[in-house]
Amino acid sequence: MSDALRVGVAGLGTVGSSVVRLLTKHGARIARNSGRDVVVSAVSARDRNRNRGVDLSAYTWFDDPVDMAQTAEIDIFVELVGGDNGAAEESVRAALKRGIHVVTANKALLAKHGVALAGLAEQNDACLNYEAAVAGGIPIVKTLRESLASNEVSRVYGILNGTCNYILTRMETDGIGFEECLADAQRLGYAEADPTFDIEGNDTAHKLAILTSLAFGTKISSDSIYLEGITSITTADIQAADELGYRIKLLGVAQRTETGIEQRVHPTMVPKTSAIAQVDGVLNAVAVDGDFVGEIVLVGPGAGGDATASSVVADIADIARGHAVPVLGMPSHDLEDYTRARMRLHEGGYYMRLSVLDRPGAFAEIAMTMADEGISLESIVQRRGAATPGGPGTGEEQTPQPVILITYETTEVAVNRALETIISKGVVSGRPQLIRIEKLK
Ligand code: HSE
Repeated sequence: MSDALRVGVAGLGTVGSSVVRLLTKHGARIARNSGRDVVVSAVSARDRNRNRGVDLSAYTWFDDPVDMAQTAEIDIFVELVGGDNGAAEESVRAALKRGIHVVTANKALLAKHGVALAGLAEQNDACLNYEAAVAGGIPIVKTLRESLASNEVSRVYGILNGTCNYILTRMETDGIGFEECLADAQRLGYAEADPTFDIEGNDTAHKLAILTSLAFGTKISSDSIYLEGITSITTADIQAADELGYRIKLLGVAQRTETGIEQRVHPTMVPKTSAIAQVDGVLNAVAVDGDFVGEIVLVGPGAGGDATASSVVADIADIARGHAVPVLGMPSHDLEDYTRARMRLHEGGYYMRLSVLDRPGAFAEIAMTMADEGISLESIVQRRGAATPGGPGTGEEQTPQPVILITYETTEVAVNRALETIISKGVVSGRPQLIRIEKLK
């Protein structure tokens, strides 16, 4: 067996500590599997005295990850610092410039600088592996970069944020409010340091940007993603979806259309019978539609220290066995420019929840507006709200009645125009809720 491969781990939070533990626990298995011993030789974190449940005494300690990347005697630099600039970016660049392989779980960094970092890795003949950056423990990067390399992909979509899926699942199964579910997700270690990144969809968008590049061979374009988080979803929506045969999931979807590639992150109604609808709790799922393979769906843990460490160490093992793959599936100069398909041209079904004022002609106005926009309705469900005081012509205040509309396939522009018209006609109270329905097998 050749010399041991020396690993430096920068960032010793939940994932970093699990990486050290996994490399220690399964060192023999990894050596057998990859043909080379892999040893941790250096570590870096801010607080040296914190108890992380792993013995770090044998490793060279660095307070500064950039210093470690620049000076440590290592073959692989594992970046688990986080953030799309600062120490994470500086240390990764420093390691690559020295020709040191990099393994990272940092989706924000790749979403922003992935193409440039891929170029730097190529120039310096180094690997840049990032399986853990997308969907934690699910091997979707390897799947797209290698296993499905022969397919033309038409769509890739998935549940890419464990925190959001955990929240939506608990809201549905336990009828618990959003805030309580979020607090539990944070306590369980799923959420980002700043949970707004989870619930507003940014974390999903970072992962989607990487998947889009791998699926379509385009440059990463994280600024071109339509973004909507889950904070506006209420238990009323979740209940209505349930009654209509749907579940609500935060999906990231990248899809080839006639005008370009659509990248979108938003709460989505998915049929209860679809594979993705069965994916609950902190689990993630990624589905790929390939022209030869058809649709494949990978499901697994998308967050948590051990699951993420599993992917980090798989990347390390690939380097140990000398398995090198272009960072984004092809040399970076071969990546095509990304052409954005405008969201206003998006086609699909829609769920709308309106608070309709209880007065004569309100329904007729809504139905007429939909017809004027060429929107065909699949179902209309009126749910009785609180008893209406007074009634038509009495002059007393009337309680708006919740009405749910499900449309057949239409366009985003038509739906938005219809809603603006309905609002301007004064037949609804407040802003209608709008949730896209994803067409799935
Ligand atoms: N906060 C992320 C999630 C962790 O909830 O999925 C993994 O990126």
